[in-house]
Amino acid sequence: MLNKKIAELINEQVNKELYSGYLYLDFANYYEAEGLDGFAHWYQIQAQEERDHAMMFRRYLIDNGFRVTFNAIAKPDKVFKTHNDPLKFGLEHEQYVTSLINEIYAEAFAIKDFKTMQFLDWFIKEQGEEEKNAEDMLRKYELYGHDAKGLYALNQELAARVYTPSATGPAM
Ligand code: FEO
Repeated sequence: MLNKKIAELINEQVNKELYSGYLYLDFANYYEAEGLDGFAHWYQIQAQEERDHAMMFRRYLIDNGFRVTFNAIAKPDKVFKTHNDPLKFGLEHEQYVTSLINEIYAEAFAIKDFKTMQFLDWFIKEQGEEEKNAEDMLRKYELYGHDAKGLYALNQELAARVYTPSATGPAM
């Protein structure tokens, strides 16, 4: 049986991951409107990954006898003035998600819940990758995005992203 506080934190994390997907779809909406379909595509796939994360947390709770409950998903409220604003917000958001997962991990560590720590290991690694992806996107934009040809090429590159469910992640 899961510790109540740990279970509640993970239940909240389901909502946070669904919100992440909602936020990234909002980024995609912005890029679609700006004619940057490759950027939009990249974030649509990111949203699919976030849904997968939510499902992994949900499955862990269910498999450990916890009744999952859903709360309202917050409205994405970011305002974009330039094409790299979503990229900046994306990096900030991933850093925030890392802090949330670290909090759950610290709680599990404090009560010697080794099972949950092991479950969270994949997310700790995943957050490292998520932050790196967000940093890479920003760096590429800073290098190439200010020139029309560079922006076109970057848009094409991002359009090539393919969704593949994680082969190593926890069950959904
Ligand atoms: Fe689910 Fe982007 O972290």
